[in-house]
Amino acid sequence: MSDWKENLHKTRYVMDVLLLFSFMLISAPQSTGIAAHEWLSLFFVVPLVIHLLLHWDWIKKSFLRLFTRIQGKERFSIIWNYLLYLLMLTVFVSGFLVSVALLPALNIDLNIQGFWSKIHHDSATLIMPMLGVHLALYWSWIVKLSKQMLKKKVQV
Ligand code: HEM
Ligand code: HEM
Repeated sequence: MSDWKENLHKTRYVMDVLLLFSFMLISAPQSTGIAAHEWLSLFFVVPLVIHLLLHWDWIKKSFLRLFTRIQGKERFSIIWNYLLYLLMLTVFVSGFLVSVALLPALNIDLNIQGFWSKIHHDSATLIMPMLGVHLALYWSWIVKLSKQMLKKKVQV
């Protein structure tokens, strides 16, 4: 692998680990408390956007690839990633609509509705298995990179 490609893979790996940890942190509002949950969710946007930017090439090409002759696994992962994106958006929007700490702190007054609380609960629950499949789709890459990174650490 050329140097820049190897560096790109390492950058993606480190960012993916950060993304996973921050996701785990915001998935447990019972442990962090709701106010921390809301602020952490806001900051989670940063690693998430970086994750998407690091796959900009995929974003540009994936839609048109759906109309070409590609393997079933690739087609599945394109559709799955689109669904994951939509669900993540739902979790965020519904989260803002039930906010009890962040929006009031920003002087934004919303009338919280039980409907959005249910949507937030259901979408946050559904996103976990969906993310599990997302990770499973790249499992061989995750194992390969983990081995490479560990080997480098042992050598130092
Ligand atoms: C906690 C959340 C997430 C984690 C831990 C995560 C992790 C990963 C991993 C490990 C990979 C494969 C390695 C790589 O190239 O980086 C990957 C690829 C990718 N992820 Fe995520 N991801 C998350 C959320 C999302 C979301 C919400 C989207 C929105 C669509 C997304 C879109 C993508 C795309 C487009 C790829 C590259 C697909 C490809 O090259 O075939 N990810 N993600
Ligand atoms: C990826 C983003 C997010 C995830 C994975 C997530 C996950 C969760 C989970 C698992 C719960 C517990 C639900 C329950 O047991 O009923 C929860 C509750 C809550 N979340 Fe989030 N959340 C996210 C974003 C947000 C955002 C951006 C806000 C607001 C700014 C927010 C505000 C709340 C509030 C106020 C509650 C408790 C009240 C309620 O469910 O009605 N969340 N969230």
